[in-house]
Amino acid sequence: MFKVNPYRPGAGLMPTYLAGRDEDIKEVELLFEAIKLNIPTQSIIFSGLRGVGKTVLINRLQKCAESKGIFCKHIEVETRNDFISQIASCSQAFLREVSVKEKVSGLIRKSIEAIKTLVISFDPEGNTFSISVQDRDLYQTNNLTQSLTDVFTSIGETAYESNTPICFFIDEIQYMKAEELGSLISALHRANQLGYPIMIIGAGLPKIYKMLSDVKSYAERLFVYKDIGTLPADQAKAAIVEPAKKFSVSYTDAAVDCIVEVSKGYPFFIQQLCKIVYQKAKTNTIDVTDVESTIPEFFEELDNGFFKVRYERCADSDKKFIFAMVMCGELPCAISNVAKNLNKSVTSISTTRAQLISKGIIYPIRYRELDFTVPEFSGFIQRLEEYHQWCEEME
Ligand SMILES: Nc1ncnc2c1ncn2[C@@H]1O[C@H](COP(=O)(O)OP(=O)(O)O)[C@@H](O)[C@H]1O
Ligand SMILES: [Mg+2]
Repeated sequence: MFKVNPYRPGAGLMPTYLAGRDEDIKEVELLFEAIKLNIPTQSIIFSGLRGVGKTVLINRLQKCAESKGIFCKHIEVETRNDFISQIASCSQAFLREVSVKEKVSGLIRKSIEAIKTLVISFDPEGNTFSISVQDRDLYQTNNLTQSLTDVFTSIGETAYESNTPICFFIDEIQYMKAEELGSLISALHRANQLGYPIMIIGAGLPKIYKMLSDVKSYAERLFVYKDIGTLPADQAKAAIVEPAKKFSVSYTDAAVDCIVEVSKGYPFFIQQLCKIVYQKAKTNTIDVTDVESTIPEFFEELDNGFFKVRYERCADSDKKFIFAMVMCGELPCAISNVAKNLNKSVTSISTTRAQLISKGIIYPIRYRELDFTVPEFSGFIQRLEEYHQWCEEME
């Protein structure tokens, strides 16, 4: 039978009920109020594991900002997509928006020149502007930081003069190249120093803290950092029961407790498990046996989707490194123990470590410790035949 299902497991899919983020939203709304008054504010970085709800949170914040008349653009950083051309076209979109509203033509011209220099020098495709060979030489520079700073200060000034603050939402920051990230921070910093209303709301995996402070030591002061994590029990409960209410379906307390326990409060897992439970339920009251009977299907679904896509991105050497991490028994694990399980030295496994970090599978914690970016990943590995074979071979 066809049944409308109110749960939405999937990257960036807005849940029908966004649980537990009211405080964060309220705090950011205060910053939006400030920037609306042409007061430059700190920018924000949300970091957390895959599936905790960073993308949906920044999308919700974008809606709030738009409703306040702030100019917003969403950028998703991808390894195969050029960040510079994305920020350039977002800046152009801003100029188009204000050009019809206000008399800021001088500033707009200045901004367009700055964007031209940026694109011509740093976007290899360079599709944004058509330009003659002579002009190309004129605009050519080799300083990304200076070019991006010119763009931010000129659009920032335009934003100030036209009373249209700007907020760029940048998702998956961990995929930015160090050079781009450094330039972005410098450009933002300069625009803020000059008092222009331009801010960034970024999101990414936990390793972005280190990336930011590595590229610029003052990044810490420029951003407010917020950890996005699992939902505490009461909020996890809301994420479970609220979507079903609209369809007059309810859960017994024991059913809710069971879902909270199995999902560990991870938003993605809640959506995935509830979707299956809801689909299978025969009555309007879901009890604990309805939940328990679907748990195997839930793990099967995760194993064949969420976990598998990540595992399959790994080379053989990556997989062995992962097995050695799981073999440590406890996570986060020390890199020295991983090396020991592989019968190798720490130095000789550092390339694989770096590779897995850059693929976004693992991330470093504190000094010389590692964990998986995907919750419950070690459980998935333990369900793999290959892992047990490898353990036997290593004995
Ligand atoms: N606060 C929340 N309440 C309920 N469900 C959520 C919440 N945040 C995220 N989700 C769900 O979790 C899943 C992952 O969200 P997403 O924003 O893609 O995570 P991330 O960007 O951190 O990887 C989606 O299915 C989404 O609907
Ligand atoms: Mg995301």
